Amino acid sequence: MKTLIIYFSQTGYTKKAAELIREGIMATGGKCDLVPLNQVKVKTLAGYDLVGLGCPVFYYQEPFHLRDFIDKLPDLKGKLWFVFCSHGSVVGIALNSMAEHLRKKGVSVIGYFDMYADASAPFIPHPTTTTGHPDKIDLERAQAFGREIVPRWEQITRGDESLIPALPPVDEEWVKSAEMFNFELVKNIMPQLTVNREKCIGCGQCEESCPVQGIEIGTDPPRIQSPCIYCCFCVEVCPVMAIEGDFEMIASMNPGHYARLKVALDEAAARGEFRWLVDFDKIDYDDYMYKQWERERK
Ligand SMILES: Cc1cc2nc3c(=O)[nH]c(=O)nc-3n(C[C@H](O)[C@H](O)[C@H](O)COP(=O)(O)O)c2cc1C
Repeated sequence: MKTLIIYFSQTGYTKKAAELIREGIMATGGKCDLVPLNQVKVKTLAGYDLVGLGCPVFYYQEPFHLRDFIDKLPDLKGKLWFVFCSHGSVVGIALNSMAEHLRKKGVSVIGYFDMYADASAPFIPHPTTTTGHPDKIDLERAQAFGREIVPRWEQITRGDESLIPALPPVDEEWVKSAEMFNFELVKNIMPQLTVNREKCIGCGQCEESCPVQGIEIGTDPPRIQSPCIYCCFCVEVCPVMAIEGDFEMIASMNPGHYARLKVALDEAAARGEFRWLVDFDKIDYDDYMYKQWERERK
């Protein structure tokens, strides 16, 4: 059995989940290749018995460019895939939406896995709700998922379709949030980013890390956010804070937003899916990450 795991990962958590799932698959004797999303050769997909696709959750859903990737795939009728993601407090519709878009290509999704992880974005406080994750239990679950998916694949390919799992349940609140935070809304509420020429040292890290090649520093003026998926990773990787934006408005939504996240995380903790590793009452909403980076990178 030959598996391919495709992942998109910026801060490394989805990649870690992908590596552990791979270990689990290999422990059962299966072969497994691992490839980042931007290096996938679509023509090679047909040569795999099982494909896994993983990403972080952005705005309660899979990243916009990953959805585009799925939509541009050729017909994959009869193929078996699994989907996974890493996320902060709320997985939202990410797994379901990936599965639904894959289904339109004829794919049967035979497994779902999600993992809590620390979160960083310019507009959120840090430490945040999920800081400390993935912990040992999260990591063991990722490996166990890899071990379990192989026998499930075997039985399904022998004809036992009853083992194809239903879509994971999603709270209606997060379905509405994902619908609201569609591409158009995100585009409108996220700050316009600019490159400060005086600060820029031309290291190229922003260009390299942009998942949609939306940045070109050498042009005059520099091209930025064209296109953009609003991941803000360019701001995060710039060592000198040369990519500037006003995150005050979006950060001002944090207290209300975090109150909703706390309810969701308390419920997840009660189900045994999440462990609080930070003191929620000590989260400092005013000191969001953009401000922290400004201090650190002066
Ligand atoms: C722009 C942005 C939006 C995010 N939105 C969500 C979200 O809606 N729900 C969530 O649980 N985590 C959210 N996160 C946190 C990431 O999903 C989380 O940090 C993930 O583990 C990062 O994966 P990576 O290390 O593979 O890049 C967001 C992060 C960023 C940068």
